[in-house]
Amino acid sequence: TLNRIPLVAGNWKMNFDHREATYFVQKLAWLLRDAKFDHKRCEVALFPSFTSIRSVQVLVEADHLRIRYGAQSVSVTSQGAFTGDVSADMLAHLGCSYVIVGHSERRKYHPEDDANIVDQVRAVLAAGMQPILCVGESFEERRQGIELDFAVGQVNDVTRDLSDEEASKLIVAYEPVWAIGTGMVATPQSAQDAARAIRDHMQAQFGAATAQSVRILYGGSVTSHNAVQLITQPDVDGFLIGGASLDPEELALIARLT
Ligand code: G3P
Repeated sequence: TLNRIPLVAGNWKMNFDHREATYFVQKLAWLLRDAKFDHKRCEVALFPSFTSIRSVQVLVEADHLRIRYGAQSVSVTSQGAFTGDVSADMLAHLGCSYVIVGHSERRKYHPEDDANIVDQVRAVLAAGMQPILCVGESFEERRQGIELDFAVGQVNDVTRDLSDEEASKLIVAYEPVWAIGTGMVATPQSAQDAARAIRDHMQAQFGAATAQSVRILYGGSVTSHNAVQLITQPDVDGFLIGGASLDPEELALIARLT
């Protein structure tokens, strides 16, 4: 990972109300403190539901925690008559550092197409936060052997509209859809191949400095049992974790191993 600070991101998806979130953050903070976890060496970030972000913020600020947090999606518009939506500024004002954009579950269950995903990335950047852009092939593309082209194509759908400065703030999460929540983790080599292909794409479009600084995460059935083999791959800079992020002990252990 060279000079890139690894990021361990816990995507809680639609789990935990604000009381459970509060309990989780207290427990995680205690576990990390107890293990003398070095937050300068590795960043830990949580992605609660919108309804729990404020509770996480209050705790983080009151206890001066080094845990970061963000949202799982965002509106593409800044304000107005969009019932049910949450704007990037609202999230930034809650102290969010990151927003997950284009998660495969959002692409599947909501009308989030490429144009919408580009607009979300722009909205996040304009509000001073960093987007975590999720890409990754389904089992069908892998069967056809076109997984790298597919994932890089999804990255390109967003990066072709970005300036150099915007691209340098992007974080990419390679999450093969067949690995999400299935227990079928990608092999370290295929995670590395995808991360490398994405970095090569960033280099071709934005040059070496940006490509070397952009963090590329792996997601899909990450646990404390497979984290070490994955993080030792040169282009894998951390994880986007679903199921295993719901257990504070497991998440703390993965962070320590990363
Ligand atoms: O965003 C993380 C996610 O989709 C991976 O989920 O449960 O396989 O770790 P999981």
